[in-house]
Formats: sequence, structure tokens, C-alpha cells
Amino acid sequence: MNEIIEFIKKTPKAELHLHIEGTLEPSFLFKLAKKNKIQIPFKSINEIKSAYNFTNLQSFLDIYYQGANVLINEEDFFDLTWSYLLKCKNDNVVHTEIFFDPQTHTDRGIKFDTVVNGIHKALSKAKKELGISSEIIMCFLRHLDEDAAFKTLDQGLRHKDKIIGVGLDSSEIGHPPKKFERVFQKAIESGFLTVAHAGEEAPSKYIWEALNLLKVKRIDHGVQCLNDEKLVKKLSDEQIPLTVCPISNVKLGVFKKLEEHNLKKMLSKDLMIMINSDDPAYFGAYVNKNLIESQIALNLSKKEIKKLIINSFKSSFLLESKKKEWIRKI
Ligand code: HPA
Ligand code: ZN
Repeated sequence: MNEIIEFIKKTPKAELHLHIEGTLEPSFLFKLAKKNKIQIPFKSINEIKSAYNFTNLQSFLDIYYQGANVLINEEDFFDLTWSYLLKCKNDNVVHTEIFFDPQTHTDRGIKFDTVVNGIHKALSKAKKELGISSEIIMCFLRHLDEDAAFKTLDQGLRHKDKIIGVGLDSSEIGHPPKKFERVFQKAIESGFLTVAHAGEEAPSKYIWEALNLLKVKRIDHGVQCLNDEKLVKKLSDEQIPLTVCPISNVKLGVFKKLEEHNLKKMLSKDLMIMINSDDPAYFGAYVNKNLIESQIALNLSKKEIKKLIINSFKSSFLLESKKKEWIRKI
């Protein structure tokens, strides 16, 4: 086998942009719908799969929120997370920082505690049994209002021992980071780290706002930054991480095909990027497939792949000593 592909598979790596609700595989969705007696507009697993045909972010989100309706009990969130962790084991992902969307569940009557406890129990088991370390980041849905985000923040504060930070996701255009400036300020004062989706579909202005107003440690996606020279300089000078998700970007029409993705160009500008899967069950690719397909489409060198993997640790919320330990092994 191609030496670079072998290298990708066997090298330990971190994942920093992963929505746990986005790991709901069609077969599990179907099983849960039956178990929990939730009506879904699909008669078979194949029907679910054929609905996964997206044109942009919103067309994906509509299906993704509908899918999440089958998650009801703590064990559902545990099983969902555990299945993802087994994929991590398979891909040699040794550290993962996962997003969850509390409002997707609390808005349909599921308790915040049910969600976070299910996820956390699976992560604890993975630490012991699979040697995978992890963090949890809770995201505010940006299409909802500031008040709803404040309520969610208060719920998250009761689980501060399990949640390292807050993020911002959902429909980007029309919901700029500025809308959540005060919520993020309170989150920071409460000791949370902050990240935000910005520059996935929307222009670089959203990335500036995430940096300046939300004080984020990382930008999720950020692929629209290349149109803005001043921004590229700042991101490069300060080595601010951008959690790039190449196959997600193609599936949601941000780039027509992987060959046109700008990640190689981003690397050439010395941006702190790494490769992530975003919503692997919906986009048909976990981390290794994202790395392998990007390598092939963009003819990435082994040096470039190595850089991407090293960056995944450098950009993580691991302790500096732990980062060094992993990077030494690459
Ligand atoms: N962007 C915004 N919201 C999301 C995404 C994404 O890529 N995935 C899941 N929720
Ligand atoms: Zn995302």
C-alpha cells in the first residue's frame, strides 16, 4: 500500500471538530426510532441514506436535527458516543474534543443532564478501556436567540466538571458571532474556553468577530479566510487554529470537489490547520478517510500530512506536556 496512506492509518491523531449528533449512523437512527417509537419519514435504512444529499449547510441541518429526534434516553447518548469512540480506536484517534448541541435536545423535552451524562459516561469508559482522552464542548445554536443561549449556559454551568468550553454552530449566514457577544463574555468569566464556527459559508467578517468579540481559542472551519489578506496574516502570526473539515465542505457545497479545496493553500500560508470529520455519519467519512481522500485529491506530501497531524495535537486543549508526548511519537 501507498506509504503515505499507511502512515495516516497508523499515526496517532487528535480530532477537534466533531458533533456527536453527527455520528448517528443510519442503521442506529433506524434502530432507535423503532425502540423509542419515534415517527421518521423513512421506511428503511436505505431511504435514510438516500436522503443524505445536501446542497448547502441548511439542507444538511434540516436532516441532522430531524435525525437527532430519535435520541431520548441517557443510554442512547451513551451508545451513540461509544460507537463513535470505537471508530476513533479504528482510526487511531487518541484524543477527541467533541461538540454537543444541548438545545437540540432540551427544546424537545430531553433533560440537559440526560444528554451530558450519557456522553460523559461513554467518554470515561473510553479513557479506561480504549486509552482515548477527550473533552466536551457545548455549542449554542446560533439560529436561536441570545436569551436561549444564556439559559443553556446556566444549565452547562451545573456540569462545569464535565464541559471544558462553549462553541457556536448551526445556520451561519444571518447569525453573526456578534449576536452572542454577551453570552460568550459570561462563559469566559465562568471559566469556559471558547470556540466558534465561522467562515464556513459566511465571509471573513464572521471570523474577525469570533476572534475579537467572542475571544475564541479556535475557529471551526474558517476556510473563507483566504480572501482576506490581513486576516490571514493575523491567523498565521498568532497561529490561531482553524479546524478544517474537507469532506464536510464538499458535501455542503463550500467547494465543488476535494481537488478544489483550499487546505493545501492554507498550509502554504503557514496557517495552523488540521483535518477533522465534522458529522461523519452524514458525510460518510471519519478522520482517516478525510485525511486519505485529501492526500489523494491534493497530492499532499508526507511532510504536509505530518504537519496536519502534529497540528491536531498542538491545537488541542491537552496539557502542554501531553501534547509534547504525542508529538514525539509521530
Ligand atoms: N456547521 C454548522 N453547524 C453544524 C455543523 C457545521 O458544519 N455541523 C453540525 N452542526
Ligand atoms: Zn461543525
